[in-house]
Amino acid sequence: MSALKEYEAQLEAIDLTDPAPPQEPERQRWFMKKAAELIKEKSQELGRPLTARVKTFGCQMNERDSEKLRGILEAAGYVLTEEENADFILYNTCTVRENANLKVYGRLGYLGGLKKQNPHMMIALCGCMMQEAEVVDKIQKSYRFVDLIFGTHNIYKFAELLVSALQNDRMIIDIWKDTDKIVEDLPARRTYSFKSGVNIMFGCNNFCSYCIVPYVRGRERSRRPIDIIREIEGLVKDGVVEVMLLGQNVNSYGKNLEERVSFAQLLQEIEKIQGLERIRFMTSHPKDLSDELIDVMKHSKKICHHLHLPLQSGSSRLLKIMNRKYTKEQYLELTGKLRREIPDLSLTTDIIVGFPGETEEDFQETLDVVKKVAYDSAFTFIYSKRTGTPAAVMENQVPEDVIKDRFDRLLTLVQEIGRERSSRLQGQTLPVLVEHINEQDETLVTGRLDNNLVVHFPGDASMIGKLINVHLTDCKGFYYIGEAVR
Ligand code: 5AD
Ligand code: SF4
Repeated sequence: MSALKEYEAQLEAIDLTDPAPPQEPERQRWFMKKAAELIKEKSQELGRPLTARVKTFGCQMNERDSEKLRGILEAAGYVLTEEENADFILYNTCTVRENANLKVYGRLGYLGGLKKQNPHMMIALCGCMMQEAEVVDKIQKSYRFVDLIFGTHNIYKFAELLVSALQNDRMIIDIWKDTDKIVEDLPARRTYSFKSGVNIMFGCNNFCSYCIVPYVRGRERSRRPIDIIREIEGLVKDGVVEVMLLGQNVNSYGKNLEERVSFAQLLQEIEKIQGLERIRFMTSHPKDLSDELIDVMKHSKKICHHLHLPLQSGSSRLLKIMNRKYTKEQYLELTGKLRREIPDLSLTTDIIVGFPGETEEDFQETLDVVKKVAYDSAFTFIYSKRTGTPAAVMENQVPEDVIKDRFDRLLTLVQEIGRERSSRLQGQTLPVLVEHINEQDETLVTGRLDNNLVVHFPGDASMIGKLINVHLTDCKGFYYIGEAVR
């Protein structure tokens, strides 16, 4: 029986004349069925199915949370859509940089207009941005048409919150400061049939001085290995061949578990799952990356040779103020070791430009690391002041024009090196996991190499979700054109 069918059977067995059970996940299943009853009534009244749209801002953690939220909406009887004019709109928000917040406010104004035309429309907001008290205040004052607000700690309770929102006209707000609770076994509606994100831990304990994540996602909590393995086995049964293990700092996985398990040990267990072909993970903090992990990666047949290792800055002086707990030299030693042990490894990174007090000398140190490590690609960010973090009140904020100039220089270097790194695979034949039909040319399919590089080659829909050997004929900078080898 497929996971969804199994789930439907479980819902079938619930009697809504019984009170909602106190324990999870049974309680949420009860509310899913209750929501389904309410949606059915509404849909009969309107003479059409009700639609729902979930829009994600931010990182892969949020993408995965959105799949869970979609699973709950689908179980409640909504038809999922990408249309902005749906009956239920849910924005899963991000607040890591100011820009992310501004985008949400901009779109909310537009949604308010749509709601005037469609009075059945319900608008819900969740995710990291909602964990900030000032944001919730502002929405209560200026965006009164919002129906439901919840945070990052209680998304498992979405079915229950949905029922409250459906039964109430006032704005429902449910934000928790933190939790040590992890609720398993709720449905998810995956974006891809053949690959999936899998949370292995939640939260972050590092408190890098610029970062708001520990305040909005709470303390580090690891899922039990048995729950992770069971989830992946279920996914594989459902057609998944690639998993991306997700956590803010996967290298410290297992530290809060009763039975201590390291991330490397967890990977070895996951490797044993038959039918699973590729294992990816992110994000790794350089301070916690162990020799044991390097060894496991080196000998694994399934772990992709790609490591995302955020640098943030190449200046040891700034790294200290950022509270990153490594120096430039330690970072370079680590990447040197990685390159020696796993020569075909792709390294990617995150870099922040314009952290308070960053001098030209500090910035030169960053450029120096970029040159020495030779990243395959890098996400470059302009420092964004996040209220409540230690860096927000630091003096010496760097002027905008200086940041812009540094950012442009960094981007040029990163792209130059990235192009050169990509071209090293020219002429090789490597497995590509096909993801979809090419958006511009439907005679082509698009997939990814083990190291995450994109490849386009002639093919058809039957290849989606399969690993195909592809001869990499033409490097186009950050992607390849190739030919399937049979
Ligand atoms: N400003 C700019 N970039 C930030 N990041 C985190 N906080 C900030 C901030 N305040 C970046 C870091 C992190 C990535 C996910 O976002 O580089 O690795
Ligand atoms: Fe933020 Fe640092 Fe935690 Fe990453 S490790 S989420 S940058 S505090």
